[in-house]
Amino acid sequence: MAEAFVITVDGPSGAGKGTTSAALARQLGFHLLDSGALYRLTGLAARRAGVDMADAEALGEVARTLPVEFVSAEQGVRVELGGDDVGAAIRTEQAGMDASTVGAVPQVRAALLQCQRDFAKAPGLVADGRDMGTTVFPAAPLKIYLTASAEQRARRRLLQLQEKHGGDLSEQYPQILADIKARDQQDSKRASSPLKPAADAVVIDSSDMGIDAVLAQILGLYQRCQVDGGSM
Ligand code: DC
Repeated sequence: MAEAFVITVDGPSGAGKGTTSAALARQLGFHLLDSGALYRLTGLAARRAGVDMADAEALGEVARTLPVEFVSAEQGVRVELGGDDVGAAIRTEQAGMDASTVGAVPQVRAALLQCQRDFAKAPGLVADGRDMGTTVFPAAPLKIYLTASAEQRARRRLLQLQEKHGGDLSEQYPQILADIKARDQQDSKRASSPLKPAADAVVIDSSDMGIDAVLAQILGLYQRCQVDGGSM
C-alpha cells in the first residue's frame, strides 16, 4: 500500500491552524484531520449525557463509544452526533473549553489515538491539533508549529465573531483574550501530551503574517522535503 506523507500542524487555538491546514490539504490533494473536532465532540457528548467532567473513566468511555458520523453534504462535511447535526454546537467557546478539559484526560487521549492515526491514507494527510507531531504522528516528515501572540489571536477571533454576527463586538475583546489565555494554560500545562512544539518542528509565528504567506512557507518546506527525500 502506498505510504501517506503526513504534515502535522500544531499550535495554540486561534493561530490559524484550521484555515491553513484546510488550504494546505486542498492544494496538495491530501486528507485532513481536524483532531480538535474529536475532542469537541467528546466534550459535547459528555455534556449531553450528563457525565461528570471530573470522572476520567466515564469520559474515556464517552470517547471510546462516540456515536459520530461525518456525512458528505453539499456544503462539505456534516458532523453528526447520534444523528443530530452538531456542526455549530461544537464551535462555541463553551465547546472549546470543554474540549480542552476532556483533552487533559489520559483515558480520552488513549481512546482517540488509533482513530486519529487511521486518517493517514495515501497520498497524504494534513493533521491539525496540539500533539500531532509529538504523540500521534511522531515520525511525520514535516512538522509545523504555528503560533501567534495571544493578543493577535484574540483580535482575529473577534473579527471572526463580528463577521458571523455583525456589529461591533469590541467590548468582548477582554473576555476573548482571557479565554484564549486560559485555554493556552490548560492545554500546555496538562501532563498528558501537553501542547508544545515537537523537537523537530519548524516554528512559524503568524502574528504578522497573512494566511497566504504562512501557506507559501509551508509549501516551500514541503517541496524541500520532496527534493531531499527525507525529513526536515
Ligand atoms: O483546535 P481546537 O480549538 O478545535 O481544539 C479544541 C480543544 O481540544 C483544545 O483547546 C485542546 C483540545 N485538543 C487536544 O487536546 N488535542 C488535540 N490534538 C486537539 C485539540
